Amino acid sequence: MKTIRKAVFPVGGLGTRFLPATKAIPKEMLPVVDKPLMQYAVEEAYAAGIREMIFVTGRHKRAIEDHFDTAYELEMELEAAGKSALLDLVHSIKPDDMDCVYVRQPRALGLGHAVLCAERLVGDEPFAVLLADDLMMGKDQATGGATVLQQMVQAYESSPGTVLAVQDVPRAETRRYGVVDVHGAAQALAEVFAMVEKPAPDVAPSTLAVAGRYILTPAVFESIRQQPRGAGGEIQLTDGIAALIGKEKVQAFRYEGKRYDCGSKEGFLEATIDLALANAELSGSVRAHLKRLALSS
Ligand code: G1P
Repeated sequence: MKTIRKAVFPVGGLGTRFLPATKAIPKEMLPVVDKPLMQYAVEEAYAAGIREMIFVTGRHKRAIEDHFDTAYELEMELEAAGKSALLDLVHSIKPDDMDCVYVRQPRALGLGHAVLCAERLVGDEPFAVLLADDLMMGKDQATGGATVLQQMVQAYESSPGTVLAVQDVPRAETRRYGVVDVHGAAQALAEVFAMVEKPAPDVAPSTLAVAGRYILTPAVFESIRQQPRGAGGEIQLTDGIAALIGKEKVQAFRYEGKRYDCGSKEGFLEATIDLALANAELSGSVRAHLKRLALSS
């Protein structure tokens, strides 16, 4: 079994749902409390033992490259001012043993197309895909529990093959997700026998939806290439994975933790409140503020 050494982050999307905030900065750079969404996803991959981060970027995404690069002037100034805690914080964004590589997606043709853009950098080995819009908090992660991708890597090691993070969603919301049907739905890791992108609630095969975390095998590249344009006229990752069912093991994994859909304003605000409440410096004042709101409503 090959270990998961590389993670692909498709970050080429336009982020129109967050305009005007995302006019000049990438949506992945929006901060939840004090950290950009992008950094949460990279830290999750790092915690899972991954050291090569592959960003599939587009125009207007330079801020992401800058974030994981050396900030020479800033570091010099922090050092001169003796602000060593802040200097450590800035250094920790990109640990020395982590590599960041970038490839451009020339046109926004869909998630499957974005993953295809990373083919040469990934090569012939299994890899992870993380969608930074989905902020994932593993159960008890703050106190040392496994991140969602760590849980998935463990699942992969126990049963190598494709592993998709899944969660139950209300039937009315299936149109927002890739939806799978599985054998043995009660198990944490179950074999997938059907997968469809953004089905209408009345035709969705189940209410098990794919969250933005995948462990994929290199066979997915050829499989994506063979797919016609799918939902929304885009080249869909879901279609590429679905075509592997029956040829390779495709599995759904019910992770332990919470997903925040930070591509939506509601999810983003929920994440901000929850993470602020979990932050030692902020929890007291945020809790007091929420209490005042509850009393006055
Ligand atoms: C993408 C995938 C979808 C998946 C979702 C998770 O959709 O295409 O299968 O369920 O991410 O967030 P998007 O949110 O980019 O429309």
